Amino acid sequence: MNEEQLIAAARQAALKAYAPYSGFSVGCAIESVDGEVATGVNVENACYRLGVCAEQSALSAAHLAFGLAKVARIAVAGGDGSADSLAGAIVCTPCGGCRQAIYEAYCLSARDIEIICSSGDGATVERHSISTLIPHGFGPANLEDAV
Ligand code: THU
Repeated sequence: MNEEQLIAAARQAALKAYAPYSGFSVGCAIESVDGEVATGVNVENACYRLGVCAEQSALSAAHLAFGLAKVARIAVAGGDGSADSLAGAIVCTPCGGCRQAIYEAYCLSARDIEIICSSGDGATVERHSISTLIPHGFGPANLEDAV
């Protein structure tokens, strides 16, 4: 899948977000080193703090489909999902919690993960890597002194 297709998969997924409280629909598409793709959306909750971000639901799906250690690229898109296609001009970058969740996959694979961040309408794209989005993250190695 090329980058455009991965973004399209994230934008398409976002239309299935459950975001009645924020009105902000997010979709995430994760590609494995072998080209498999898993998607996820944000799922909000009446108890606001229990909402789950799109990246975290996509990571769960990716883990089931091919395993966290095989995560290669991630596309994220967020915006207004109320019509037939995702809309909005502002680029959606992963929140801090999602960066930490992606960092776990990075530690397992020891390979940097590309994060493609898109505006809702897909017109503006920013490319980052997990190592730059969360420098000095907390990973399995930080737990080595645990008893
Ligand atoms: N959201 C995500 O799904 N991913 C992010 O990285 C940023 C925020 C969701 C959470 C909430 O449902 C909505 O967007 C507004 O914050």
